[in-house]
Amino acid sequence: MIDAGAEQAAYAGFLKTYPEYERTRVVDALRTSEYRRLDAQRHVYLDYTGGGLYAESQVREHAELLNHGVFGNPHSASVTSSGMTSLVERARRAVLTWFNAGNDYTGVFTQNATAALKQVGESYPFAPGGCYLLTFDNHNSVNGIREFARAKGASVVYAPITTPELRIDRARLSELFAQGNPSADNLFAYPAQSNFSGVTHPLDLVDEAHAAGWDVLLDAAAYVPANRLDLRAEKADFVSVSFYKMFGYPTGIGCLLVRNAALPKLRRPWFAGGTVNFATVQGRRHILAPGEAGFEDGTLNYLAIPAVEIGLRHLAAVGIETIQTRVRCLTGWLLKQLLDLRHTNGPSRGAHLRAGDDGGAWRHRDDEFLRRGRTPARLPASRGTGQPGAHLAAHRLLL
Ligand SMILES: Cc1ncc(COP(=O)(O)O)c(C=O)c1O
Repeated sequence: MIDAGAEQAAYAGFLKTYPEYERTRVVDALRTSEYRRLDAQRHVYLDYTGGGLYAESQVREHAELLNHGVFGNPHSASVTSSGMTSLVERARRAVLTWFNAGNDYTGVFTQNATAALKQVGESYPFAPGGCYLLTFDNHNSVNGIREFARAKGASVVYAPITTPELRIDRARLSELFAQGNPSADNLFAYPAQSNFSGVTHPLDLVDEAHAAGWDVLLDAAAYVPANRLDLRAEKADFVSVSFYKMFGYPTGIGCLLVRNAALPKLRRPWFAGGTVNFATVQGRRHILAPGEAGFEDGTLNYLAIPAVEIGLRHLAAVGIETIQTRVRCLTGWLLKQLLDLRHTNGPSRGAHLRAGDDGGAWRHRDDEFLRRGRTPARLPASRGTGQPGAHLAAHRLLL
């Protein structure tokens, strides 16, 4: 039973520490109008970037679109198909506009961020003499690209992160940039926000890498749900996102944003239905379709794609800055509370949190892991959210 007086006092203390939280009141109203299922089912949903929550209106608007339209496969030229094509292209433009990509980028719809990353891995011109450089704290879907690099004879180098901050060791990274072979293709990959520690990494690394002659793969999957990414300012060559992380619905759609200047570098290792302008069986030749079409294998998840534009509109209505402030305040408060946890019989030497077996729930553990010298296999993606001190907390929680 929570003491109402104590709760009020705690809330007042919270507001004193985070006065900017008041500016995010719109989210409380939304909780009542758009997310009432949370309170109806008594849920507290913490994991913001692992998977966002959809608003009721997103699903309603999408269902209305489907229930009132007749939509064919956008590959064909019929009236129903061209209607679908224009909705898909509208969603693509909405994505490019959201990331302020202008005409400098091509947006390739994929199944998720992982599929976007795989597109880069299999098409990047890795070769002997070239290098795939990546930071220690990448998602496994970025780590996995090293297999493509290795198979094509490029070297694979990891850039270290510092402890206890879990930030990129910039001095060492600069040295590694300088060691790149200028006559080869070199790719640097890092997460704008680590799914492992929650630390946000500096976006000015994109410019530094470019200045040293490297191409840049920016994995923005964990960053964009609560932060604005402006591709006119941060001109990464390849950017991966999953939309369910940003606004919950739809699942099954992500995007690879490719800087047009870097697009000709990508060489697809195969072709498929929808990706070619021409293919012969007898001559065994094919001509890849230009732009995004050359990368979108087979039939797109076309009925779901309009929900991406609806989701982006929802995010715009809430305001990404509002979400960022809200997440920062709540994360800061939560980390402090967790670090203050004590055993009833004395201070905890290693209060330890790890993801539950379902990957979502957090469990409070004693320091059994510390004693065994083990670290948890996986931690929730939203833990740090760039919060100052989050890295320290993450490190302490990890160790
Ligand atoms: C930083 C980062 N990159 C990539 C991914 C992979 O995303 P998906 O599973 O949607 O492909 C995730 C998912 O948590 C992530 O946090």
